[in-house]
Amino acid sequence: MDLISIRKSYRRYARHYDVIFGRVFARGRRLALDTLAPVSGKRVLEVGVGTGISLPFYCTDAEVVGIDISREMLEVARRRVSDQGCPAVIGLAEMNAERLGFADDSFDAVVAMYVASVVPNPEQLFAEMWRVCRPGGQILVVNHFASRQWFLRTLERSLRPLSRAVGFRPDMELDHFVAVTGREPVAIEPASLFGYWKQVQFTKSA
Ligand SMILES: C[S@@+](CC[C@H](N)C(=O)[O-])C[C@H]1O[C@@H](n2cnc3c(N)ncnc32)[C@H](O)[C@@H]1O
Repeated sequence: MDLISIRKSYRRYARHYDVIFGRVFARGRRLALDTLAPVSGKRVLEVGVGTGISLPFYCTDAEVVGIDISREMLEVARRRVSDQGCPAVIGLAEMNAERLGFADDSFDAVVAMYVASVVPNPEQLFAEMWRVCRPGGQILVVNHFASRQWFLRTLERSLRPLSRAVGFRPDMELDHFVAVTGREPVAIEPASLFGYWKQVQFTKSA
């Protein structure tokens, strides 16, 4: 995966993204927002906000900033905010999640939903999420991780050469992802039926 192919894929997806990936990812998004709800302060950064499909569901007293690398996905998000209100949203910006333009410790929580297996360097994505989160804040990564079932695993591996075309890596290992973060998750929970997607939750040490 590289930024050019990612932008190209999501330029293609933008118009139909919500129809294709709206419901299928809904449970993980809901879990993440429920997990965030009690966070005090509630300055939230959503990286890879995409079409902003989660934006109407943040607590109204949160202050949410969304960033994405795809101009076309952000256009849909901006339209959603202007059509639906989304009172929690204070900003949307085109930005690379691997080089965030925010100061250290800027947010109470940082969330990436279905982004870790899309970016070129998940390790760098996580390092940036950690950097901009304040000490004691929460970092949530909701993603598909490689299946432990033989048949699905073989299928995922066989799809790997198509990663650039489909816009995500189908076989990212959970253990590998956790290892490259260099941090210990506080919780790992299923984020879909059969646990096919998972939420990995971290608290930034104070
Ligand atoms: C599968 S979509 C997920 C969108 C949304 N989070 C959701 O819940 O549906 C992945 C998103 O990550 C964005 N993305 C991929 N690489 C990125 C990067 N390096 N920086 C910022 N956004 C990126 C894509 O443009 C796309 O909008």
